[in-house]
Amino acid sequence: MLSWDDYDESQESSTPNKAPEQPQSVQATKPQAANVVKPKAPAPKADVDANVKASEDKALEKAQASLKNLDVAPGLEELEMGAKRVQVDEKAMINCRADLNQLVPFKYDWAWQKYLDGCANHWMPQEINMTADVALWKSADGLTEDERRLVMRSLGYFSTADSLVANNLVLAIYRLVTNPECRQYILRQAFEEAIHTHAYQYCVESLSMDEGEVFNMYREIPSVAKKAAWSLKHTKEISDPTFTTGTEETDRILLKNLIAFYVVTEGIFFYCGFCQILSMGRRNKMTGVSEQFQYILRDESMHLNFGIDVINQIKLENPNLWTAEFQEEVTQMILEGTALEIQFAKESMPRGILGMNANMMEEYLKFIANRRLTQIGLPEQFSNVSNPFPWMSEIMDLRKEKNFFETRVIEYQTGGALSW
Ligand SMILES: [Fe+2]
Ligand SMILES: [Fe+2]
Repeated sequence: MLSWDDYDESQESSTPNKAPEQPQSVQATKPQAANVVKPKAPAPKADVDANVKASEDKALEKAQASLKNLDVAPGLEELEMGAKRVQVDEKAMINCRADLNQLVPFKYDWAWQKYLDGCANHWMPQEINMTADVALWKSADGLTEDERRLVMRSLGYFSTADSLVANNLVLAIYRLVTNPECRQYILRQAFEEAIHTHAYQYCVESLSMDEGEVFNMYREIPSVAKKAAWSLKHTKEISDPTFTTGTEETDRILLKNLIAFYVVTEGIFFYCGFCQILSMGRRNKMTGVSEQFQYILRDESMHLNFGIDVINQIKLENPNLWTAEFQEEVTQMILEGTALEIQFAKESMPRGILGMNANMMEEYLKFIANRRLTQIGLPEQFSNVSNPFPWMSEIMDLRKEKNFFETRVIEYQTGGALSW
């Protein structure tokens, strides 16, 4: 049996940091015999400290020696501007040769402002109360079959569409847009796309929907699959890590991608779904899902505006790209996008629902397409169309949006100023 008398007191004074349990138990199971060699007393603490310090110093010296040949500006010798300080007029949207690691001086103040606005409007899906939606979704007569289809289709498209957008940003556009303040916004946008995908997953999980069904609609439901396939087609070439800009042909390929994603995917493909879900919320149905979509729409209208500014800036700096033939091609892309979205509206809304029907949505999408065309300097393609859903404009108008989302925006701004 272990007793305090078994403990070798001589060890206590020489090893004050050593845990007492180990020597105690060793001695308890192996009684000391006269011929057993006692464990060697460890070196005094001061000697141990000196040895440790010497070995740490040696490791640091070795690291310093290996830094002797470090190139202070790795890779910069390939740039025309080298390691010089960046001047504003050297900055350019694409094919810029100035150092991209220097954020300032700003050339495009609007890009930095959009980054700040995006951060000030930060939100997270879990902040939105989904209780009423869960009760309505689970009750047998809460929603009609048409209303249920509409919710499922929207979540089905968006749950993967935002991932397509994020992948295009991170794996294709980021590398090729050669301006640091725009890249700063692109990083913010990429995180917002992650939040949007999170929001759709959160809705699907809260409502206990069949995840496999929702997340596979972009393969299995024709009108959803076609939209996804159209976007993917336009990211293929520039996602190739060996793709570079610098010729008229490759610069145009990048510009086409920006138009395909910012103007068509985020500017047209999102609008039928936004309109349907927000219309539901206006009728006090699926108010949690609808609130998630309101936040997403606010973010998306900023993504769209940023993209349009980038596209117009590239046109301004590279007027050779904007030929009559290319304008014709871009107009065709926007018409294709409009046709795909009209098809989505028809498939998701075979009958009139929530005060809207496929014909009204068609007119709305033509109205949106006209706006997108004029925003990048192309003529409208649809005559005599107006906005059948004027309440959508109210939500999209940024100034009104800021009032609309006032409470949360202020919460985040206050949170950012907290001192710990
Ligand atoms: Fe998004
Ligand atoms: Fe977006």
